[in-house]
Amino acid sequence: MFNIALYQIFGKPFILYLGIITIISFLVTAMVGISFYRGLLRFKWHPRMVVVSFFLAIIMTVIGPSAGKPFTGILGILTLFSFSITALIGLSIHQRWMNIRFIWHPIMVIISFILAIIHGLLGILAFN
Ligand code: HEM
Repeated sequence: MFNIALYQIFGKPFILYLGIITIISFLVTAMVGISFYRGLLRFKWHPRMVVVSFFLAIIMTVIGPSAGKPFTGILGILTLFSFSITALIGLSIHQRWMNIRFIWHPIMVIISFILAIIHGLLGILAFN
């Protein structure tokens, strides 16, 4: 059966390219968040980039299991979970649902990126 995750492009599986695009999208989301925080950009670009990043992350989660690397996959799920907590904290602060200190938003961003990098490195090693 056709396996999109393992579809070869320049000798590397499609899932690796999708992973690189997804992490770049989350990086842009963070940069847009920092730019808004510093008064350089309008806020609306931050939630727009959040939607794009989660859309890519969910596609990865759907096609990822067919790559057949369960350990890398578990770290992928943990990364998605961590970015979801980050987004929920951002949303709770912005909507004033919870009285949570803003600093937890960037702290969770850093934890999420550490998990994303470990997940990405494992993915690269798994296909070498
Ligand atoms: C890439 C990871 C990030 C994700 C997934 C994320 C997600 C979110 C979400 C979902 C919201 C609420 C949007 C809304 O209510 O429409 C938000 C708000 C916000 N985010 Fe982020 N964010 C990230 C990184 C950052 C970074 C690095 C900063 C800068 C330090 C930042 C600064 C902000 C600010 C200032 C708000 C508004 C909070 C308020 O209303 O007081 N974000 N974020």
